[in-house]
Amino acid sequence: MTAPTIGLYGLGTMGAALALNMAEKGVSVQVANRTASAVLRFMDRAGSLAENIQGHQTLGGLIAGLPAPRLLVAMIPSTAPMDGFLDDVIGQLSPGDTVIDAGNADFHDTRRRAARLAEHGLHFVGLGVSGGEEGARHGPSMMMGGSPESWAGLEPILTRIAAKHGEDPCVVRCGPDGAGHFVKTVHNGIEYADMQMIAEVYDLLRFGGGRDVRDVSAIFKDWNAGRLESYLMETTGEVLSYADAPTNLPFIDLIEDKAGQKGTGRWTVIEAVRLGQSASMIEAAVAARAWSAEKALRGVVEETFGADRADLDLDVGLLEQAMLAARVLEYAQGFRILAAASQEYDWGLDPVRIAQIWRAGCIIRARLLDDIAEALAEEPPEGQLFLAPRFSGVLMQGIPALREVVTRAAEAGYATPVLSAALTFWDVLRQGRGTASLIQAQRDFFGRHGFERTDQDGDFHGPWWK
Ligand SMILES: NC(=O)c1ccc[n+]([C@@H]2O[C@H](COP(=O)([O-])OP(=O)(O)OC[C@H]3O[C@@H](n4cnc5c(N)ncnc54)[C@H](OP(=O)(O)O)[C@@H]3O)[C@@H](O)[C@H]2O)c1
Repeated sequence: MTAPTIGLYGLGTMGAALALNMAEKGVSVQVANRTASAVLRFMDRAGSLAENIQGHQTLGGLIAGLPAPRLLVAMIPSTAPMDGFLDDVIGQLSPGDTVIDAGNADFHDTRRRAARLAEHGLHFVGLGVSGGEEGARHGPSMMMGGSPESWAGLEPILTRIAAKHGEDPCVVRCGPDGAGHFVKTVHNGIEYADMQMIAEVYDLLRFGGGRDVRDVSAIFKDWNAGRLESYLMETTGEVLSYADAPTNLPFIDLIEDKAGQKGTGRWTVIEAVRLGQSASMIEAAVAARAWSAEKALRGVVEETFGADRADLDLDVGLLEQAMLAARVLEYAQGFRILAAASQEYDWGLDPVRIAQIWRAGCIIRARLLDDIAEALAEEPPEGQLFLAPRFSGVLMQGIPALREVVTRAAEAGYATPVLSAALTFWDVLRQGRGTASLIQAQRDFFGRHGFERTDQDGDFHGPWWK
């Protein structure tokens, strides 16, 4: 059987890693890059894998070298450069060829590009690739959006290079056009919330509890050996264990507390709101990153009002239970957005399969995803993860723990945006009758918007309208 062949344009961090992964798995890869000198450097770096790789000096050469129907991956910024790339390639491709955007794209752009290429008889795939450089090199988790025909061409390659959970390759065709990039976006939104939640707990342990950073590192490593096991928990234990070589200071203390973001967290929040949802934990994490960037302002406020915080000795087991409950809720918010988008765009997303392919290779891989996949397969009441019987114990124990952590943190002056958002989300959900009667009365009073009554069918106005 001849090896499957694919073209890859863009030999930056991710493109180079992906090309080496493909070559290692016996895929025949042809590559090119905007700056041609990068191709020679890459071929040198490929070592013995170079026998499965053919370098081209130009994009035209790459396209001409690919067998029909072509599979051409672009691993370049998915913004204007992607549109420029499509301008260049459309005229050089033939009907039936597939272009794959493997970067982090706004799924609206992917839908627009898919429609554009379809006019030329070309397929356009939005491929979400998670796992960073390491994942791309040795096995990412991948979320594909595109036509069944393009999936047929790509599947043999993607299943070879994907991360494996046991024997299961972590790749799925999510649906058409933007479905894969959308699922990747929500994956990143969950990632934002989980990272921020961990950072909040780090703050409580280290500065509230007055613990040495090495002890905090050990606590995260310990948690990673239990129910909270996840890549981000592992990463946290690891990064906190480093000291600065010359000074022996904890390395974490030398890193400026200003977090960057490239947009996927923000997109998740925007899409959630657009779909009539609220990913409040993800939004809290996006807000925390935005506020972190206002370093100078925070300095002024601290100088003006003081930054006093009381000591806060929270039990490690209590924090573990609180985080576990919050983690269930953050994944639940993510899956709620996926369900809403699937309905809106008629994608037919399979939440069980999505949970399964997030179990290895990607940044949000976590032991909890085994339970999440099984809970979704059992079709929980109302389709909601937090109503799944297998999570009732975690929530029954974890919500009181979360409440204690959030209230004691607030009293002592510690900010817990994501943990607080989790608790608020839960406290709203568990009230069969909430506060919206008053909202409806207000809306009707000033805008004659009308409301439903509890005792009669129909649309009504209040006695304030005579
Ligand atoms: N880094 C990650 O962990 C990660 C994870 C998942 C997804 N992604 C996504 O993967 C994509 C690539 O990221 P990266 O980290 O590999 O970036 P990178 O290391 O900065 O590489 C960028 C690549 O894009 C090329 N490029 C930039 N502008 C171009 C243009 N106008 N026309 C043609 N080629 C252009 C560059 O070519 P030159 O060599 O000529 O500059 C280079 O090959 C992005 O969409 C990113 O969001 C990244």
